Parts: sequence; structure tokens; C-alpha cells
Amino acid sequence: MTQVQTTAAGRLLELVGGDLRVPLVDGTTARYVNLDNAASAPALAPVAAVVDELLEYYGSVHRGAGFASIVSTEAYTAAREVVRGFVGARDDDLVLFTRNTTDAFNLLAAALPPGTTVVTFAGEHHANLLPWRRHAQTVHLPIPSGPAEALAALDGELHRLGGRGPVLVSVTGASNVTGEVWPIEEIVAIAQRHGARVALDAAQLAAHRVLDVEAWGVDYVAFSGHKVYAPYGAGVLAGRADWLDAGRPHVAGGGAVRRVGVDDVEWATGPARHEGGTPAALGAVAIAAAVRTLDAAGWDAIVEHEEELLQRLLDGLDALPGLRTYTLWDRAPDRVGVVTFGVDGLDSALLAAALGAEHAIGVRDGSFCAHPLMEHFGGGPALRASIGVGTSADDIDRLLNALSDIINNGPRWTYVEADGYVLPSPDPRPRPSLGGLLGATPVVVAGAPCRT
Ligand code: ALA
Repeated sequence: MTQVQTTAAGRLLELVGGDLRVPLVDGTTARYVNLDNAASAPALAPVAAVVDELLEYYGSVHRGAGFASIVSTEAYTAAREVVRGFVGARDDDLVLFTRNTTDAFNLLAAALPPGTTVVTFAGEHHANLLPWRRHAQTVHLPIPSGPAEALAALDGELHRLGGRGPVLVSVTGASNVTGEVWPIEEIVAIAQRHGARVALDAAQLAAHRVLDVEAWGVDYVAFSGHKVYAPYGAGVLAGRADWLDAGRPHVAGGGAVRRVGVDDVEWATGPARHEGGTPAALGAVAIAAAVRTLDAAGWDAIVEHEEELLQRLLDGLDALPGLRTYTLWDRAPDRVGVVTFGVDGLDSALLAAALGAEHAIGVRDGSFCAHPLMEHFGGGPALRASIGVGTSADDIDRLLNALSDIINNGPRWTYVEADGYVLPSPDPRPRPSLGGLLGATPVVVAGAPCRT
């Protein structure tokens, strides 16, 4: 029996929409099971309450003398300090609000000193591969078969690069595909021995484990509000001020400057340098409210709740015929609640669509913005179930039962592939109106599917 205190529904914390009922293609409704937290997590209930409160006082940040502007500016400023505490940043680190982790690494990439080499591992999320290629020499170390191999490869590469200019090692804290937690402190120790800096992609770690940038010796950390139950459009980059203060301003415009002449400009330093334009104050305040809520829940409880559900999920998946899970390292010392799997003979997009349309279960399918890693596994696109503080044992059982049903009986509805999406056809599920934005007929989904 767990010692963790959960709600009556078995959740650690309440999320907005935790009791949402959604329509199914057969005309009935069912409680929505959200097992897609690794992609984007719903708002924690206290986060939405704080955002609603701030909306009453919403005013221009850093640009107004009215009381609403003062409250909004103070809230934005206070949020920065809450985030500093949450990631364990040094007093003189900059804490910048960005759009998300991708934006944070694009910002850092453009601020790297000339001649920097960035060392990553090939299995990283695209957000930790592509930004560096635009602005630096990059080295992609092979996907390692275990932590020891990762450390040895890094040590060898940094030795080879010795003396060739600044080096940044950028690694994930936890894989967004397979969930293994990477040996951050050992990576930092190796990097420091070779005079390199370390950036930590905490997109998948921040909602699951305590961050301690200063104690670990990490130089930069990035994470997204929408993965820490604060989906209001903001993310974070925190770290050493020197490169950031000297680097190219991320967004040129009002607020990022000290003085502008017709032909010249004197850029600000500090957070302002990279936060041109009116900032996403609601997003920043939402992140602060979210991390305060997670801290208050207690990290021991968060980890214990997640580990119990992860084991339940892994055991259940193991018992299903033709189902195989993907792992990077067989005996990972630590793993967050992210599990990717495929089912023999069943297209993963069809399976995901059937889980959604027939069983009210939300998972992600595709290649998870980690194409090199999925190629390494060699199995093509797959499905991913991811656990959060709003997940219950009943959610896990609903997924396992639904998978068993589809594996044994196949999907019961018809589906079509359109624009890279697999969708039920027909799709009789009524949408919420959202003030008239959505009507009775499903909107044709345009644009590149984010399933890749
Ligand atoms: N990076 C997010 C994911 O892994 C979107 O799903």
C-alpha cells in the first residue's frame, strides 16, 4: 500500500479538467484519461486560480504606472525569483522567460561565443539538436548503451576537443521517449575537468525530480511551463550571465534596449536583453504558481506516486501479447514515468486514434521529435504513455484494458488517414463551442502534424 496521500480519485494533485468527460464515437461519454503529460500537461487547479486572480489585475509589465501595471510587473518579477529557487540557480545567474524549451535553446544557441563547439548525444529531442546547428560546430555522440558508455564517450570527445575554443555540453535530464534519467552530476564533473560548460534540457525532468543547478554545477537549464502544469505560453532559460549578456538579443524591440538612435542601439543586459516586447506575464506567473504547488506537494511524494504508477504500467504492458516497450538502458538507475511502446501488426497512429475515439484515452504517437533515437530503435513510429501528478491507478488500468481490447478485437470504428493524421471517419463527437470558435462540424486539421 502506498504511503502517499492522494485524492479520492487516486491523484496526487488536482488538475483542471481532471474529471472531464469526453464524447466517444459510439455516442456515449467517458471520463478522459490523460496519459500524454510528457507532451503537454493540463494546468494544476491552483495555477488556474492564480492566473484568474491576476487577470483581474492584468496590466502592462514594465510599461505602466497604473495599479494594474504595478501588480502585473511585481508578479512577473516575483515569478522570476520563484523560478530561480525552483531550479536552484546561483544568485548571479540570469533567469529568462522564453516561450518554451525549444525557444530557450534557440536563445542560448544564438548567444554562444564565436567558435563554440556544442557536444550532444544523437538521441536527444530535436530542441536539443537543431538550435546548435545554426550557430555552432556540433558533435553528436552516438546513442550510448548505458550511462557508463555515455560518460566515457563524453570524456573522450572533450579530450579530443581540448583547447579548440569554448565547449558546451548539452544533455537531456530525462529522455522524452524512454524516460531514463541521465547522470547529470557525472556529466558536469567530466565537463568541468575539460573546461566545458553544461546545458541541461530539463523539459522532461522538471515535473518529475528536484532540480539543483548550483549543487550539480550545471551552467544552463531550460524547461517549459506547459510540461510543469502551467500551459500559459511561457518557458525558462536560467544560467550564467556572461554569455547571455554578451550574446545577440533574442527578440529585438522595445524593452530590450537602454537607448535607441536612428542609426544605433545600446542593448540592455540582464533579462531585458532577451525579453523584447511585452512579456507573457500570465505564463511566467503560471510557472511560478505551478512550481510552488509541486514544491508544496513534496518531491518524495511526487516521485513515489509516479514510481508506483510506472511499475503498474510496465507490468501491465509486459503481460500484453505482441507489445514491446522501448528502453535506452536496460537497468537505468532512475526513470521518469514515460513509456514508449509498439504493438506487432498494429499501426501506432491507428492504435492511438482508437484509444482516443473509442476509449477516451489520450496518448501520443509518432517519433516524438527524436527521429535519430527512433531510427536507432528501428521500429518506426510508436506510442507513448506518460504519467503525471494527475494520473491515478485507474487511469493506468483503463489504458491496459483498452489496449488488451484493441489487440484482441481490433478497432471497432473506421479511420482514415488525412494530412498525416489518423482520424475516425465519420467523427460524430461534438466539440465544445469555445465561444463559437468550434462548430458542429469537425475542423479540418491543417499544417504539419506534430505526431512526428
Ligand atoms: N517535446 C514534447 C514531447 O516529447 C512535445 O512530446
